[in-house]
Amino acid sequence: MRRAARIWIPFLPGAVFILYLYETEALGGLPALLAAAALLAFSSAMSWATHRGVSTAAQEAIRGLGPDVAPSSPAPLSPAAAAIRPTLVRLNRDWQEHAALTQQRLAAAEAIIAAVPDPLILVDAQRRIVRCNEAAIEFVGHDAQSHDLAAGLRNPALLAAVDAVLREDRKRSVEFVLSVPVERVLRAHVARIEGPALNGGTAIIRLYDVTELKRGEQLRADFIANAGHELKTPLTVLIGFIETLLGPARDDEVARDRFLGIMREQAQRMARLVGDLLSLSRIELNEHVVPTGRVHVDSVIAEVVRGLELRAAQREIRISVELPLELPEVLGAHDELVQIFQNLLDNAVKYARPQTRVTVGGGIGGPGRSLTYVSVTDQGDGIASEHIPRLTERFYRVDTARSRELGGTGLGLAIVKHILNRHRGRLEIASKVGVGSSFTVWLRSAPSDRLQASPAA
Ligand SMILES: Nc1ncnc2c1ncn2[C@@H]1O[C@H](COP(=O)(O)OP(=O)(O)O)[C@@H](O)[C@H]1O
Ligand SMILES: [Mg+2]
Repeated sequence: MRRAARIWIPFLPGAVFILYLYETEALGGLPALLAAAALLAFSSAMSWATHRGVSTAAQEAIRGLGPDVAPSSPAPLSPAAAAIRPTLVRLNRDWQEHAALTQQRLAAAEAIIAAVPDPLILVDAQRRIVRCNEAAIEFVGHDAQSHDLAAGLRNPALLAAVDAVLREDRKRSVEFVLSVPVERVLRAHVARIEGPALNGGTAIIRLYDVTELKRGEQLRADFIANAGHELKTPLTVLIGFIETLLGPARDDEVARDRFLGIMREQAQRMARLVGDLLSLSRIELNEHVVPTGRVHVDSVIAEVVRGLELRAAQREIRISVELPLELPEVLGAHDELVQIFQNLLDNAVKYARPQTRVTVGGGIGGPGRSLTYVSVTDQGDGIASEHIPRLTERFYRVDTARSRELGGTGLGLAIVKHILNRHRGRLEIASKVGVGSSFTVWLRSAPSDRLQASPAA
């Protein structure tokens, strides 16, 4: 067709003119026919001369042959074809470079989407999943493609947010709980995609796991409520006695002395609580800094035992230190190690039955015998196993009234845990109801050539 057009279009005006000459009888029938035939032959020759080799040149350009390679067409290229050949070659090269670049960009974008740690899900206007990244597969399954989002994520709040964005909203955020396989709190950001997107993608859903964040928020709120409550109780007592001393008991000397004694006790309790709270926050602030000092455990224990002797004697409790002579030094901060054993021995003396023995033992162990352990064992009432995992939580006590009565703040073991976190050590608790408890602290031993030579020490 196109070839015929190339011939007919230059031929037509001449043919019309010949027809006119024939109609006006200026030309006879035969000469008119001959003239038309000659004109047709001439325009065919003209067309061939102009277009010969154009399509060959184009094909060779597309095949990637350079402008310098001799054309392989049987007939030589017309001047027009020869003139456009280099341009076609360049155009083809440019186009191929562009295509490669686009391919590269697409691959890079795909790699980035795949590497995004947060789940991403693209849905079309009918809420069908068009695409999702690796992280999202956990939520929607492997064969989610082209299925309704509800097949994988059946949460009503999320689906309502997605529907709202697909209908009219630009974006929506929603928080929801997934209960299988483990309970998790997720936050979803749903946003409408403005402009063209892959396979009819209309909205993108980003999911964030905020379980830890929520837990942290809850812990913080509980902690503030607990600390407030713990401070308020002695404060209320103090205010009550101050009122009494200012009013009815103003001139009662006996009552005044007794009340002042109680007030001192309550004030001391508040001071202990504030001291423990400050200590806890200081340790937490430094938790990422591992102490590197060398500390003699036996001197720490001796220091703590000296401070507790009076209270132990009041309950007729004997503290027996049975540490091996050759215990290595440990890596740590002296004052914090004192705080650890102060809390453990204080608990042992407090919670042991009267007239029993508290034993401090120790040794070395762990991988490559690189750790030193020290245990504090009492003969107390013991702790039921369900409480043991929670003992290091702030303000967690087995018996709150008893702990308060004995002057406890409920923060001692939390402080121990945080100090050990900072020391990269650990606490082990073993207990038997009716028999007693054993708290074992594991610390990193300071390197020592002499001890490595005799590991049994
Ligand atoms: N040696 C122990 N024997 C029995 N119970 C203990 C012992 N040490 C700790 N506990 C329990 O663990 C709880 C938390 O200890 P801690 O944080 O030191 O708080 P506090 O001593 O102020 O009560 C205590 O209230 C107590 O119930
Ligand atoms: Mg304590």
